[in-house]
Amino acid sequence: MWYFYSPILVFGEGALDHLENIEGKKCFIITDPCIKKHGLLDILTKKLDSSGKKWEAFTEVEPDPSENTIYKAAEQCKAYEPDLIIALGGGSSIDVAKGVWVLYEHPDFTNVDEIHPFQTLHTGRKAKFVAIPTTSGTGAEATWAVIVTREKDGKHSKLEQGNKAVIPTYAILDPVFPREMPPALTAATGFDALGHSVEGFISTWQNPFSDAYALHAIRLIFEYLPQAVKKGDDLKAREHMHNAATMAGLSFGNSQVIMGHGMAHALGAVLHIPHGNAVGLCLPSTMEYCLNAENDAARKRLGLVARSVGVADWKDDDRTAAKKLVDRVKWLQKETGLPNSLKALGVPREDLDRNMDALVEQCMESPSTVMTPREIGIEAFKKLFDYMYSGKRVDF
Ligand SMILES: [Fe+2]
Repeated sequence: MWYFYSPILVFGEGALDHLENIEGKKCFIITDPCIKKHGLLDILTKKLDSSGKKWEAFTEVEPDPSENTIYKAAEQCKAYEPDLIIALGGGSSIDVAKGVWVLYEHPDFTNVDEIHPFQTLHTGRKAKFVAIPTTSGTGAEATWAVIVTREKDGKHSKLEQGNKAVIPTYAILDPVFPREMPPALTAATGFDALGHSVEGFISTWQNPFSDAYALHAIRLIFEYLPQAVKKGDDLKAREHMHNAATMAGLSFGNSQVIMGHGMAHALGAVLHIPHGNAVGLCLPSTMEYCLNAENDAARKRLGLVARSVGVADWKDDDRTAAKKLVDRVKWLQKETGLPNSLKALGVPREDLDRNMDALVEQCMESPSTVMTPREIGIEAFKKLFDYMYSGKRVDF
């Protein structure tokens, strides 16, 4: 027996208009300073004003948000007493809002450690939660994960918290928001979505419903990411990418990502590499490491993706088809200008060597690593980071 979780999805041009139909008079908006600066917050607040809804905004979410940001926003939220919480932004704002939602609904909780899969949470009693993504990548609007950074003894680590009760009530996918993304961010966030779908598809927790969303997301990303990067005002490409990112979120939200995200979170926490860049960088290595396994589980799955999205022939064997899929991902990196090695990302070699133990320690502690279809340990992670430094193909 298995379950499939999803918010109510409202998508397409004009989707924001649906806010008028959502019950709630007092809205607490959680967003970041860039969204405010680029006028995207104004688009939302104008809509709220014309719908007769009151609002107050917390605009201080930072990239790789600290858990302290959640506590600060939660205090403001509790004082305002909204009946609607709205996250406007990328994964950072949405994840902060998930934490705020829980702390608002459970005033007895003091920190995010309470947000774990075995906790009984009651959300939606005081406020409904609407997630409005402005990037097309994280899928946070569709998942039950809460990724925040904890600082302890001068060290930063990523907490991968989660509970089914933090899945937003609604996700509004309006292409008016991602249209403003510059090309490099479009590429990086697009690769985050690609990582979610591919990792979700070969995760040991994959299931028929997560498979369906993953496959179509991959197909859409291959087809529309290059155009969304090159011609950002192409609303059709933007809309397809926006939908694909949420489909990828539904896929991995109901199956789980694997070691690629474990490594990416470590690269984010230790070397401060933006999440999409880190995921994009780790994806081909993850695929190669998994397809080189003795057991053929990942090979079969990657082969199926390759044939289904048309990058391999149906007569190709699994290994051949899976390798064609890796080649296609590498082609997409080049086509969209995504850095394909740690060196290309500007990481000095000595920084990698100095932080290797910290990186590997985080990978080993990451819950994502557990769902990898091939066993992995300390030495393999070290070797993978070493290979990723120069962008070398994984041959082990
Ligand atoms: Fe991700």
